[in-house]
Amino acid sequence: EKDGYDYFMLKEIAEQPKAVADTLLGRIGTDGRLHLDEVRIPDQVLREVDKVVIIACGTSFHAAMIAKYAIEHWTRVPCEVELASEFRYRDPILDKQSLVVTISQSGETMDTLMAQRHAREQGAKVLAICNTNGSTMPREADAVLYTHAGPEVAVASTKAFLTQLVACYLVALYLGQVRGTKWGDEITEVIEQLAAMPEQVEKVLDTMEPVRELAHSLKDANSVLFLGRHVGFPVALEGALKLKELAYMHAEGFAAGELKHGPIALIEEGLPVVVVVPSPRGRSVLHDKIVSNIQEVRARGARTIVIAEEGDTAVEPYADHLIRIPATPVLLQPLVATVPLQVFACELATAKGHEVDQPRNLAKSVTVE
Ligand code: F6R
Repeated sequence: EKDGYDYFMLKEIAEQPKAVADTLLGRIGTDGRLHLDEVRIPDQVLREVDKVVIIACGTSFHAAMIAKYAIEHWTRVPCEVELASEFRYRDPILDKQSLVVTISQSGETMDTLMAQRHAREQGAKVLAICNTNGSTMPREADAVLYTHAGPEVAVASTKAFLTQLVACYLVALYLGQVRGTKWGDEITEVIEQLAAMPEQVEKVLDTMEPVRELAHSLKDANSVLFLGRHVGFPVALEGALKLKELAYMHAEGFAAGELKHGPIALIEEGLPVVVVVPSPRGRSVLHDKIVSNIQEVRARGARTIVIAEEGDTAVEPYADHLIRIPATPVLLQPLVATVPLQVFACELATAKGHEVDQPRNLAKSVTVE
């Protein structure tokens, strides 16, 4: 059932173009508009929503963080993101006009489920983004948007994460479409580009050999840092989480702008620092700032591993290792930028001789608090 792959995780990484395509299937009409009738929340209710709150744990939480950038940009509706374990023990302010979105691969994670129940008790409408048909969260929610990643066997989430991102983009774009924001033209264009993402993910997968070699060469590193900005920040967090859980290494993700507020003190000779570079198009200010960050850490001895769009030549002089990803709309970049980090963590774990599909101390579905 591993189809010739050594691990389920490798198989699941390879399945990502299909998982993304399946999650888009039937949701983009021939008219180029989104059709999410299955979600069952009337458009009128979506027009009246005055706040979106997204709740999740772990990797699903990183998808939620990325969703915030998309929702606020395309819909101008304020969006909060919170770890389920924190949300449910706070006293969150919710009412009928709040749309609460839970994100869960399994649909059974106890913290997220309890948070979802809490939100419904407060009168909020709950939309569950879930990969497991008929699991508890979608059964109890007001509405459901299924991701179609197929069964994920490896404990570490890979293809489920990419499909969660797709579902989040669909929700953000749909909200924008229904509410008719000033970004109408951009929304139409992005829907088109979203439809092309399976091929973009495939392109990344085709160029992973150098990432594998790099991972093997780093198997004796003590620590790896990940930097990103904007949607690249949650991608950095996800890269660090994958490395912790699979390679049992110290790894941390930072917002690159925070570097000078503390983390830069960690930089020492030979420390691998992975940097997710935002598109030089779009918000070019951010791009330029990240290029300075790469220079700064390199000047202090870091070994820089740079993930940058094809054609981004500005990073070349400062990259000890350069990993290219295809150009995408700014907000969609996590769909391609995450893939090398998954491969990196998986290969590093293999190089260290770890059991990739079943990391120690972890369970696929955390049904206890
Ligand atoms: C990391 C991972 C976990 C899960 C988290 C939430 O690779 O798999 O962090 O993302 O336990 O699980 P779900 O999405 O099932 O609620």
